[in-house]
Amino acid sequence: MAKIKTTFYCQNCGTQHAKWQGQCSSCKQWNTLVEEIIEKNETKDWKSKDITASHKRLSKPHLIEEIEYEKQKRFKTNNTELDRVLGGGLVPGSLTLLGGEPGIGKSTLLLQVSLQLPYKTLYVSGEESLQQIKMRAQRIGGDTHNCYILTETKTQHIFRQIEQLNPEILIIDSIQTLQTDYIDSSAGSISQIRECTAELIKFAKETHTPVLLIGHINKEGSIAGPKILEHMVDTVLQFEGDRNHLYRILRAHKNRFGSTHEIGIYEMQGEGLREVNNPSEILISKNQEDLSGAAIAATLEGLRPLMIEIQALVSTAVYGTPQRSTTGYNAKRLNMLLAVLEKRAGFKLGAKDVFLNITGGINVDDTAIDLAVIAAILSSNEDIAIAKDICFAAEVGLAGEVRPVPKIEQRILEAEKLGFASIMLSGQNKISKGKYGIKILFVNKVEEVIEHLF
Ligand code: TYD
Ligand code: MG
Repeated sequence: MAKIKTTFYCQNCGTQHAKWQGQCSSCKQWNTLVEEIIEKNETKDWKSKDITASHKRLSKPHLIEEIEYEKQKRFKTNNTELDRVLGGGLVPGSLTLLGGEPGIGKSTLLLQVSLQLPYKTLYVSGEESLQQIKMRAQRIGGDTHNCYILTETKTQHIFRQIEQLNPEILIIDSIQTLQTDYIDSSAGSISQIRECTAELIKFAKETHTPVLLIGHINKEGSIAGPKILEHMVDTVLQFEGDRNHLYRILRAHKNRFGSTHEIGIYEMQGEGLREVNNPSEILISKNQEDLSGAAIAATLEGLRPLMIEIQALVSTAVYGTPQRSTTGYNAKRLNMLLAVLEKRAGFKLGAKDVFLNITGGINVDDTAIDLAVIAAILSSNEDIAIAKDICFAAEVGLAGEVRPVPKIEQRILEAEKLGFASIMLSGQNKISKGKYGIKILFVNKVEEVIEHLF
């Protein structure tokens, strides 16, 4: 088979080299040379027999109003959390990349989805043996009539199998293990990943098969792969969470067919991942005792209301410089709120250590949780517990004013549904109190929060 021509480019300055060398002779950087293709071979089509195909499909310009469009039917995955994040299922011919740290549960999620799918699915694994996958499938359980497993890493061999099997959905675990014959470099290198993905894109677009790819990412999130992959694929999903935590969050970082605001929540159990359809229940601790330093915020993740518990600990600083530390919340925003409390409400927090934690290991950047953060800090500082049946939803401004937040109705309804007795909002929220079963407390300044709570 004719090999295609490749050359080595410096990733730093772009200089071309005939062969690999440790240091770029132009910019003197080390380890920046990467093999790239310079001359494409016609047979590189995913269906290599069909050489003339690409000539037949020469594309022409079209007037936009003449382009025919019918709403595409999506492939529902039967996994409500995944469907929500995707924006309503898999789009025919789309490439979806699922990234995440090792051991977070990417293979588990996609195998579980394959076992639930009502379509003929091919799960290609370059990482595990058939026996290992079978063991995992037994652990997860589920309907296995439609799911085929292939352990293979050569893309050309995979495509031969696909032509025979004709799967409706293709899953690849993982893109870093794939290798194409047309490039010499080892699996996992930038050029291999790019070429294999390009072949898969071509395959997906020509056959209208949705393809799901697993991609590895390291702690810095910068290793060869996912970053360049992100530009090529249609949807990038990230599976996150603490490996020691039970909860996993699925987020869309890029989505050509839906919003990127939705999240899916799963719980890792002995028998695979359980979908968490009512996340508020898990995020609020079941602790019955009244403890100081905890407040509940009514936040939104995408369109979904979410009640989260904020915990604060305020204590006298042991060392000269007080510590400020946050988990799941922006540290700069915490410093801002502390300054507001100091300046506008007269609390001397400058000499205190302040720790802030959002339970459940999730990251929140909704400013509507500001009021709950302030309430938790004050509660810990005064050592007086806040009643368990009150929640908060408002932003706090630099002048100590309590500001309204969007989609307030959804937040109120969620709080009401979960049995909260009252919710504290900004006085500027234009809502009629009588409409809801829950008691609504309006505040306009942080000082008023203190009067209400203590
Ligand atoms: P895995 O899907 O292999 O992670 P990744 O593909 O992202 O590297 O899953 C890793 C962890 O999940 C592993 O440490 C074991 C755990 N696990 C469970 O807790 N329950 C289960 O049912 C399964 C299949 C895995
Ligand atoms: Mg895996």
